[in-house]
Amino acid sequence: SADELDARIRAAKATLGERVVVLGHFYQRDEVVQYADFVGDSFQLANAAKAKPDAEAIVFCGVHFMAETADILSQPSQAVILPNLAAGCSMADMADIDSVEEAWAQLTEIYGTAPDADGRVPVIPVTYMNSSAALKAFCGRNGGIVCTSSNAATVLEWAFERGQRVLFFPDQHLGRNTAKAMGIPIELMPMWNPRKPLGGNSSDELVDAKVVLWHGFCSVHKRFTPAQITKARAEHPGVQVIVHPECPMAVVDAADSAGSTDFIVKAIQAAPAGSTFAIGTEINLVNRLAAEYPQHTIFCLDDVICPCSTMYRIHPGYLAWVLEGLVDGVVHNRIQVAAEVIADSTVALERMLAARP
Ligand code: 13P
Ligand code: SF4
Repeated sequence: SADELDARIRAAKATLGERVVVLGHFYQRDEVVQYADFVGDSFQLANAAKAKPDAEAIVFCGVHFMAETADILSQPSQAVILPNLAAGCSMADMADIDSVEEAWAQLTEIYGTAPDADGRVPVIPVTYMNSSAALKAFCGRNGGIVCTSSNAATVLEWAFERGQRVLFFPDQHLGRNTAKAMGIPIELMPMWNPRKPLGGNSSDELVDAKVVLWHGFCSVHKRFTPAQITKARAEHPGVQVIVHPECPMAVVDAADSAGSTDFIVKAIQAAPAGSTFAIGTEINLVNRLAAEYPQHTIFCLDDVICPCSTMYRIHPGYLAWVLEGLVDGVVHNRIQVAAEVIADSTVALERMLAARP
C-alpha cells in the first residue's frame, strides 16, 4: 500500500542519511517529489549532481539522459541510480550517434573545414541536454557544446562566436524558437531528416543555413496548439500564457513567454496573488503548481491530460527498492557512462556550465 511504501522509503532514507541524495525533476509525480532532497529543471539537476561529491549514491528521479549527465558530472566513485531503467525520453531517442556522425560527414563535405576571415569554423554541433551521452561526447570532440532550455540562447551565442553555422539536435523546436528569438530568419533554418540524403535539402540550402535543425520533437509538447491559447484568452481575460520552448513555434509565438520548467515555476512564484496562468508543459508540474499556489488560477493549456509517460515510470515502489538496496549494500540500476564517452562529454558539458553568465 501507499502507506507501507511511504514508511519503507522514509526508513531507508533515514538509515542512509548523507550517504544518498535523491534528485527529482519537476515533471515527477507528487508521490515521488515528496522524497526528493532537491527538485529542479535539467540544468539545475546537472549542477546538483556535481554539488554532492560526498554522497555514495545519487538516486535520480527523472529520465535516462539526466541520470547519464549526473554520472558524467559526479565523482567516479559515486553511483548514479535510475529507479526504473525504462524511464527514457522519446525525443532523446530521435537522434542516434550513427545518424549524427553521418550528417556530420555530409555537412563537412559541403562546408569543408577551413575557418572564415574571423576564425570561425564552418559549423558547430550543439546538442540539447535531452540526448544520449554519446551525442554529448560527439559535441565535445567536434568543438561543440550542450544546452538546456534554460540557457539555449547563451549557448547559441557561444556557438556563433566560434562558428558560421550550428547543427542543432535533437529538438527542432527548441532550436528554432531560440534562433528565431535571436533574429535568425526561419528560412535559414533547414531541417535535417536523417533518412534522406543531405537531410532532404539541397547543398545550396545547407550553405546558406545558419542553423540546421534535427528532425526531433517532444511528443508531450507538440500537442499544444495556438487554438488552445486563443481559447484560454477568450475564456480567461488577463490570462498569462507561459509555455516550454519544446512547443512548436506557432505556440511559442502566441504565448506571453516561454522558458524552462524552472522559468515557469519562478514566473508563478513572482506573480501577485489572483493571477491567472495557462501553462503549456507537462501535467504533473502544472497540477502541482495549481495545488501549491491556490492564490492563483493555474491550468494546463491542453485539457486532455498530457503526462510524460516515461517520467511517470518512476514509481515510489522502485524508489523504495533502490534505497533499500543501498541499505543492504546492493546497487540496483546503476547508470554508468563508458570512460571514453565520459571524457568527451565532460568537455561539452563543462563548456555549457562555463558559458552561462
Ligand atoms: P527542463 O530543462 O526545462 O526541465 O526540461 C526538460 C524536459 O525534458 C522538458 O521536456
Ligand atoms: Fe522527453 Fe518530452 Fe518527456 Fe521531456 S517531456 S522527458 S522531452 S518526452
